[in-house]
Amino acid sequence: MKTVGLTYDLKTDYKFKEGDPLDANAEFDALSTINVIAEAISANGFKVKKIGNASNLLEKIGDLGVDIVFNISEGVSGRNRESQVPILLEMAGIPFVGADALTLGLTLDKVMAKKIFIAEKIPTPKFFEVPSVEALIDQDHCKFPLIVKPRFEGSSKGLSEDSRVENFEGLKKQVDFITKTYKQPALIEEFISGQEFTVAIVGNEKPEIMPVVQIKIDGKLKLNDKFYTFARITSDRLEYICPAKISQELKNKLDDFALKVYRSVECRDFGRVDFRVDKDGNPYVLEINPLPSLSTEDVFMLIAKNIGITYEQMVGKILNSAIIRNGLD
Ligand SMILES: Nc1ncnc2c1ncn2[C@@H]1O[C@H](COP(=O)(O)OP(=O)(O)O)[C@@H](O)[C@H]1O
Ligand SMILES: [Mg+2]
Repeated sequence: MKTVGLTYDLKTDYKFKEGDPLDANAEFDALSTINVIAEAISANGFKVKKIGNASNLLEKIGDLGVDIVFNISEGVSGRNRESQVPILLEMAGIPFVGADALTLGLTLDKVMAKKIFIAEKIPTPKFFEVPSVEALIDQDHCKFPLIVKPRFEGSSKGLSEDSRVENFEGLKKQVDFITKTYKQPALIEEFISGQEFTVAIVGNEKPEIMPVVQIKIDGKLKLNDKFYTFARITSDRLEYICPAKISQELKNKLDDFALKVYRSVECRDFGRVDFRVDKDGNPYVLEINPLPSLSTEDVFMLIAKNIGITYEQMVGKILNSAIIRNGLD
């Protein structure tokens, strides 16, 4: 029987420091999520060894006794945080599930990822970035309304109703807030009014594109100015619809772009691409998540149900992709 190590960051591992925003540990997982994934791995006929975060891994790396690691660790801070566990595993020659350190760093940094999308002719909202409010100039390259995001975070960190700005005053205020609170540059994008979708992919040589999931907010599919804020994640104002009831034409576009994005950043085993679609039906890629949430409340659970497999089988599918890729089968 093969042994699978599990690397992760627990919400409770995070020690809040003075000045930390409420969502500082938003990317980390609840113990219940770790347990559910561990049980799913066991259900696929593997022994599971819980390792924990990058520091725990460092302590034990010479003596792990695992065949492969299932990594969902987010790391503590900075644009390379998700790369920390993968680079340690790579150094030690231990195979792991999911994207490597380069892809994780490249995609956590949304500005770097967007440069790749542009080079690959994948549509993404027009943008610019600033290190501080002092560097902000009244530009006319992007048209209001704009959305202000931290350059390298996930889980809608830093996003509230104030993130969508209509004028230069609002922009200045939000850039000041993001750069100071999250201690990183602000990414400013044209706000895409319309609908929102996310497309998951599993596999490598012949990646399987999963049914499109649509995001419904406050009971509405036509989101217009609404978007996925941090407060909404934990409320019942957000629903996922799978499969999205959309035209074949839009589905084809989303599938094609999702796969193109997955390949452009060399994602492995699994990933999820987030889109907004404007009123004229044009999709824009917001980001790719090579380390998407596997929480049972998140989209992977819903997708599993829709394609007629269990959550355990979905986790097995992802793990199996990594096992085959590493020639461990
Ligand atoms: N350019 C945009 N236009 C409209 N909404 C956006 C835009 N960028 C982000 N959003 C909203 O903010 C949410 C989070 O943004 P995203 O870029 O996916 O970052 P995260 O890594 O936090 O998920 C999206 O799901 C969407 O609702
Ligand atoms: Mg997202």
